[in-house]
Amino acid sequence: MTPEVHPWAADLTELHMQVWTRLVRGVRDRRAPTRHPTLAKVTPDGKPQARTVVLRAANKSSGTLEIYTDLQSSKVADLRRTPFAALHVWDAAARLQIRLEATAAILTGPGAAAIWAGLLGASPQSHGSLPAPGQSIAQALDYAKQPNPASFAILRLKVQTIDALHLGAHHRRARFDRDARWAGTWLAP
Ligand SMILES: Cc1cc2nc3c(=O)[nH]c(=O)nc-3n(C[C@H](O)[C@H](O)[C@H](O)COP(=O)(O)O)c2cc1C
Repeated sequence: MTPEVHPWAADLTELHMQVWTRLVRGVRDRRAPTRHPTLAKVTPDGKPQARTVVLRAANKSSGTLEIYTDLQSSKVADLRRTPFAALHVWDAAARLQIRLEATAAILTGPGAAAIWAGLLGASPQSHGSLPAPGQSIAQALDYAKQPNPASFAILRLKVQTIDALHLGAHHRRARFDRDARWAGTWLAP
């Protein structure tokens, strides 16, 4: 039998650990594939929309992730209405696709403002713009970036399910559920 390059993929507990190890790595390593997951949510009329984001926090014990965003962006309005999100990462080196389903909370106010203040100098451009993100403008540069704590929001994702697909000599796919205390089950890939 062909030896597996990633032996962790053959064990449910190790596979689950590997997913979180890589998510946590994405928070501090700008070059990690988990640094820039794709975040999807639905519009009020049920249409999926996906976008690239930066992963800002990942906590295995609470099963939570954080993303920073602009309070005025359409994703915030849509997530307030339908607080479910999906996150996707393809980690090519690990031959691992990570798909997460999560409930989403939007954090603003003093706690978020304190984090925003700590970001100044790091990524002040990211949050606060006039007009709001997604608004129509006459010319490409007819907008101003206005760093503003009132526009800063943290999306806190409470992961509910993890779907991990590993492409190896034998493909393996597993699902991990919060409701099952993250006990994994194998799925046909
Ligand atoms: C590499 C990259 C990183 C990004 N990171 C973020 C982010 O952390 N938060 C965010 O709100 N938008 C981020 N964006 C912009 C979003 O992809 C999106 O264009 C923006 O949030 C507005 O879209 P929306 O209102 O549909 O969410 C990033 C885009 C790229 C290309």
